[in-house]
Amino acid sequence: MSEQRLAGRVALVTGAARGLGRATALQLAREGAIVVVNDLRRELALAAVQEIGAADGRAWSHIADVSDEDQVEAMVAAVTERSGTIDILVNNAGLMRSTRPVESISLDEWQRLLAVNVTGVFLCMRAVLPILKKKRSGRIVNVSSSAGRSMSTFNGAHYTACKAAVLGLTRHVANEAAPYGINVNAIAPGSFATEGGLELFGGMPQEVLAGIIEAEQKKIPLRRFGSPQDVANAVAFLCSDESAYITGATIDINGGDLMM
Ligand SMILES: NC(=O)c1ccc[n+]([C@@H]2O[C@H](COP(=O)([O-])OP(=O)(O)OC[C@H]3O[C@@H](n4cnc5c(N)ncnc54)[C@H](O)[C@@H]3O)[C@@H](O)[C@H]2O)c1
Repeated sequence: MSEQRLAGRVALVTGAARGLGRATALQLAREGAIVVVNDLRRELALAAVQEIGAADGRAWSHIADVSDEDQVEAMVAAVTERSGTIDILVNNAGLMRSTRPVESISLDEWQRLLAVNVTGVFLCMRAVLPILKKKRSGRIVNVSSSAGRSMSTFNGAHYTACKAAVLGLTRHVANEAAPYGINVNAIAPGSFATEGGLELFGGMPQEVLAGIIEAEQKKIPLRRFGSPQDVANAVAFLCSDESAYITGATIDINGGDLMM
């Protein structure tokens, strides 16, 4: 059984129905947090809640689009009404798109990616910060990417721009929130074969995809893609008291693929 570093804390994890968010939600629950699983995918969000329950964790789901101001406000109000407060926000919901070169990105696709990957992070932080400030404590973890530190291997320029924006947003808000005892950090995952990541290769024959994955893994110093648990462990640390003196930082989780 995991150490209960987050006993009784209320954690809102966006985009937690699958992939990195789901593993993170599970880990926070294992460590004692009451987890609100946000996503657009109702069935998968319910399945995540059931998985947490089956592991003796506490969770419930809230379906909302993080890019929609009213839905985000209503979600945060629902969380505080049902669970009493919010202690932890993990802004994980994100869209990936492989469209490239930049001149082939439609304005619609550009705006949708910005809306979810950047505006969503802004809206969720804006809604949660007043609650954390009143408590004079709290943790926010924003999921950026190696793309935001350098450039994306498989996504387009819009994705790289979004993830770089998340890093700037994180640093700025970390500075504003620090006097209130709130820590705001980012993580920058490298390559993970999640459902969302694999969808970028939709339609590609399995053996071709397997060849690409094998070749990419060989380029990584630790010789493997990350597992969702690698991200979950880092986020749990950033949400725990053990990271009390870390704020405005970006934790790279990339097997040494990008060393800064
Ligand atoms: N997979 C990777 O290699 C990788 C690498 C670096 C960073 N990331 C980032 O990690 C995060 C999670 O990625 P993943 O690989 O688990 O992706 P994923 O597509 O498997 O999961 C993302 C989840 O977010 C949800 N979501 C999408 N738009 C939403 C919205 N508007 N409101 C609420 N929920 C929404 C989706 O339904 C999905 O369940 C993303 O921010 C992604 O950009 C992923």
